[in-house]
Amino acid sequence: MSDSYQQRLLNVIPGGAHTYSRGFDQFPSNAPDILERAEGAYTFDVDGRRYLDYGMALRSVGIGYAEPEVNAAAAKYMGFGNNLTRPSLIELEAAELFVQAIPSVDMVKFTKNGSTAVSAAVKLARAATGRELIARCVDHPFFSFDDWFIGSTNIPKGVPQPVIDQTKIFSYNQIETLEALIDRYPNDIACVVLEASTLAHPGPSRDVDGETFLHDVQRLCKKHGIVFVLDEMITGFRWAEQGAQDYYGISPDLCTFGKAMANGFSVAAVGGKRELMQLGSIELEGQERVFLLSTTHGAEMSGLGAFVATYRFMQQHDVIPHYWSYGDRLIGLLNQVAEKQGVVSVFQAGGVPCSPFYMFRDCSQASSAELRTLFMQEMFKEGVMMPWIALCYRMGQDELELTETAVSKAFSMVARAMSTGVDGLLQGPVVKPVFRTFN
Ligand SMILES: Cc1ncc(COP(=O)(O)O)c(C=O)c1O
Repeated sequence: MSDSYQQRLLNVIPGGAHTYSRGFDQFPSNAPDILERAEGAYTFDVDGRRYLDYGMALRSVGIGYAEPEVNAAAAKYMGFGNNLTRPSLIELEAAELFVQAIPSVDMVKFTKNGSTAVSAAVKLARAATGRELIARCVDHPFFSFDDWFIGSTNIPKGVPQPVIDQTKIFSYNQIETLEALIDRYPNDIACVVLEASTLAHPGPSRDVDGETFLHDVQRLCKKHGIVFVLDEMITGFRWAEQGAQDYYGISPDLCTFGKAMANGFSVAAVGGKRELMQLGSIELEGQERVFLLSTTHGAEMSGLGAFVATYRFMQQHDVIPHYWSYGDRLIGLLNQVAEKQGVVSVFQAGGVPCSPFYMFRDCSQASSAELRTLFMQEMFKEGVMMPWIALCYRMGQDELELTETAVSKAFSMVARAMSTGVDGLLQGPVVKPVFRTFN
């Protein structure tokens, strides 16, 4: 099997893919090693097998794969040269649209990856405050491939110790953990970095009736001169048209977007309050320079054209309400079938309806990678790829029905595994966490 796609991938690409969450260790052994194309809510492998795709390219596609209007916009700007020697018209249009769309944003810089956007926010915060420490939320899985974040995970190899020491952690919905950090490092924390929500809405504020944990974070930041960075990579253009910041009624100092904002084209953004963003300006006479996101491909016209087209499509077609209603029905369906098949003691679907999650637990209530692998394996047999749940606009009634049929079969296998164990049912190795210190 030395010439299998997997071998060939591993031979020339470290990890066999350009994102660790696409790696072979993240999928059951019957998952296709390689894919050829995708359209709408479906992905096709090289043998033409079709999968309903709940991975949605790591949440980078929100409308559906190869959406004609978005692709046409990208193609138009490819025809215009794709990248010019001075700023392009579409660059201005995209920036003005973004600033008008997101309430807290006065200025924006585009880039190609979310990681660079979040790292740019961190740099601005450090430049603005003259402080070095970063407080990042420990319950949120990923902010950046850069050292400031990776040094605070269990894969710190290659990150200098002083950089590791500069990132501190606090817990979501536990404002006292952020307070404790501020008490311990008064006047040293440049920024707080977190997502608005991942698995559940923010809990109630400790201090003010009717407000949330996010308001407490905002208040603490303001009081202590800390820059509040909200990472909207996933929540932006999904929770609400104006971002989760609008949904929850907060106003971060800086915020970052990416993922599905251009329906699969590579566009990410850092934006925020003018006094911070303009530290990267060049027209303010005598101001000390901050070198903020200067990249050759940052304003690639096809991507920015795709962003504008994606945004307009979202407005015209009620894409965001669709996420909420489809997600709500999907969560209900998964839990109902789980009940019917007798697997509720190990399975749960839930979360914020526009971005549901599912999880398997073992008898000690720890997350069960064995059952998750078995479930994914059985779902693949039924033509459904569900490594996690990312929704798109092109999922509708047919896709819900396909999911129901697949899940019923997958859960009957899970029920069997609950009495016999997964041995003999699993065709290959159990999936592993991306964040682990050793292979
Ligand atoms: C919340 C969040 N921030 C930042 C990133 C990094 O984005 P990218 O992979 O585009 O660099 C991710 C990617 O998974 C993310 O989920």
